[in-house]
Amino acid sequence: MQSIQSSAAQAPSHSALQSAALATTQRYARTIETSKRIRWDIDGDVIRGRRFDLSRKFLPDGLSRVDELGFLAPADQRLLSQVQGRTYANIFGLVERYIGVKTLELGQDHAFGDQVALEALVRMADEELKHQELFRRLEAMAAEGMPTGYAFKPDPNDVAAAVLGKSTWAVLGLTLDIELFTQAHYRSSIESDADLCPLWKDVFRFHWMEESQHAVLDELEWRREDARISAAEREQGVSDLIDLVGAVDAILQMQARADAEYVMQVASHRYAPSEQAAVADLVLRAYRFQYIVSGVQEPRFGEVLGELVTPAQMERIGRALAPIVKHVQG
Ligand SMILES: [Fe+2]
Ligand SMILES: [Fe+2]
Repeated sequence: MQSIQSSAAQAPSHSALQSAALATTQRYARTIETSKRIRWDIDGDVIRGRRFDLSRKFLPDGLSRVDELGFLAPADQRLLSQVQGRTYANIFGLVERYIGVKTLELGQDHAFGDQVALEALVRMADEELKHQELFRRLEAMAAEGMPTGYAFKPDPNDVAAAVLGKSTWAVLGLTLDIELFTQAHYRSSIESDADLCPLWKDVFRFHWMEESQHAVLDELEWRREDARISAAEREQGVSDLIDLVGAVDAILQMQARADAEYVMQVASHRYAPSEQAAVADLVLRAYRFQYIVSGVQEPRFGEVLGELVTPAQMERIGRALAPIVKHVQG
């Protein structure tokens, strides 16, 4: 009798469930309101007929870490910042391919249900399509103004197919990580740096404005998926998330090598082999910080992940990340 009474006391009442559902719908609704209010146009608001200012850095030092390479001539530090900034835009274009497809798929779950959630996800998919177009335009503009030889290595469709082969739980974890670091980078380094190329800086200001809503939606969808799956599926989700981080790291290793080689080829003069190796290591450390470590270190990411996984699963994720974190910390 005692146990029946206590379990009845623990079960949420019908009205509690209804008010929780209402609160969730209101969170989706707020992203729609903000999305409508801040919506921007690629040409009218962001590019406005401008070109990149190649006399200035693109990515701030806090992210590019080029200021750690004291032997690099100032012009080559600037070039390395611009190349990292070019890759930064291309990486967003890359991940937005899979994020857009996944968002459309998640929207299907709401198709005959919460129409507010459906609208929020449709808007997010639409924004990611616009962002991809923006980043394609930027790559074409960068190619016009910068020395030839740069190559962005990963193919968006190949990466999307590989990512989307993993469980939705893991894909949403990776996506929340990405959409949180997008905001963190803007707030912590890009916004406050007055010396960056104005167009590059504006791109990431406008991008940040729309990504803030995406992170809210990622979290809502991740929690919804988490509530739906079994403990065994979550355990598989943790393994998939670790695999996805490994796949991201493989892409970063490939692109860091390509970018470091390109910069060394077009630099103001020939650097010694030991200096070239230091540039290659710096670029990989910077990319691992930008695309993996800065996201998982975001407090919100840790809070949500901590609520969804067991302490043992958290430890497993921490162990998988440890070598990357160690390299970033130098
Ligand atoms: Fe985006
Ligand atoms: Fe996004």
